[in-house]
Amino acid sequence: MDKISVEGGVSLNGTVSVSGAKNSALPILFSTLLASGKHILGNVPKLKDIDSTRELLEALNCRTSVNGHTVTIEADEADNQEAHYDLVRKMRASVLCLGPLLSRYGIARVSLPGGCAIGARPINLHLEALEKMGAQIEIKEGYVEARCSKLKGTSIMFDTVTVTGTENIMMAATLAEGTTVLENAAKEPEIVDLAEYLIKMGAKITGHGTSVITIKGVSQLKASSFDIMPDRIEAGTLLIAGAITGGEVTVEGFNPVLIDALIQKMIESGFKIQTLHGKTQGVKVSSPKIWTGIDITTAPYPGFATDLQAQFMALMCVAQGTSIITETIFENRFMHVQELMRLGADITPKTRTAVVRGKPGGLVGAPVMATDLRASACLVLAGLVSQGSTLISRIYHLDRGYEDLEGKLRSLGARIQRVP
Ligand code: EPU
Repeated sequence: MDKISVEGGVSLNGTVSVSGAKNSALPILFSTLLASGKHILGNVPKLKDIDSTRELLEALNCRTSVNGHTVTIEADEADNQEAHYDLVRKMRASVLCLGPLLSRYGIARVSLPGGCAIGARPINLHLEALEKMGAQIEIKEGYVEARCSKLKGTSIMFDTVTVTGTENIMMAATLAEGTTVLENAAKEPEIVDLAEYLIKMGAKITGHGTSVITIKGVSQLKASSFDIMPDRIEAGTLLIAGAITGGEVTVEGFNPVLIDALIQKMIESGFKIQTLHGKTQGVKVSSPKIWTGIDITTAPYPGFATDLQAQFMALMCVAQGTSIITETIFENRFMHVQELMRLGADITPKTRTAVVRGKPGGLVGAPVMATDLRASACLVLAGLVSQGSTLISRIYHLDRGYEDLEGKLRSLGARIQRVP
């Protein structure tokens, strides 16, 4: 199994571009199940999770092909409605086939995803919403078995803000009879991207990007073409990479507004941030010699993204002073803490908070193990600023969600390589 080796101590400088957003590409790939014809999706990142999604779509009898960053899908005969455990356990987002399959075919059998390193991550809110729309749902032999003659529009109030829950039900509602109103819906930019593709296919959706989304059901949708939005989490990760090494890095190809919560925190910590608008959008970070520890609390968009919490913690490990990091979205998203401590970080983890006592220049390279996608990115960032070499194992997590992170960091001057 490949590992990543990082030689720390080099400050990163230069310009780097972001790839397409994983968390937008995945629901949009699954949305193709709603309509026959040829879906042509551009700016799709090259990731393991995209390969897994194509594998599942093919198992559902879709035809898919890839040319560079363009993925073409034909879902005319998506007449197998079963998502097998072997595919779903590899990637939880597979549950996003449930809404589209049930809505188009009136039947779906989708494996329950099972446990996850960062939290329990149940899908009860997806299922309750579909039941409210008239589906009969049973859990049998580890599978969700869902049936309906036709889903019916209704009003649904999510108890908790759920990103894929909102996506699943928004997709299901496009072909339902009547109007569905989703309240306490997620406002993530990826929801907006998905809604925009659904609208391109002929769906009638308003309110996406706010907490109330209204979907008027239509009788059918038609395949179309669409470019996936840039990845704001990758952008934030690259920005923190420049920052943590004391460098000056421009990350381009995305709208800075989408990571405003991160930008505000970086400014508060002492970084100089310049936002670039117009033709070349992006953010330039210039690092001070010393930055200060500040507190963050993760929250649904537009709050501080849980998907940037681990990376920000790495930055705080080498800040001056103390930072209190509070994770409110997932109950177990501090797996990186013990690994950061192996590099010499001074962190006291509690249930939902971690107290980080910063040590500028205080990390020393060591072998560490990645536990999930964002924890892997956090360890790479920590490796960049650790003295000597850091060897990160289990980096297959990284390949699920970052397109060529090492190549991008190398282009900024990092001494990072993949070792077999
Ligand atoms: N929740 C429930 N019941 C549900 C659904 C969610 O209790 O039916 C809870 C979860 O357990 C969690 C909270 O609600 O405590 C929020 O979970 P959410 O459903 O929003 O998460 P998700 O949709 O499974 C997506 C991203 C995650 C990202 C979260 C939060 C995709 C494919 N995944 O997950 O991305 O962390 O939203 O923003 O969009 C990542 O990219 O590394 C990643 C984990």
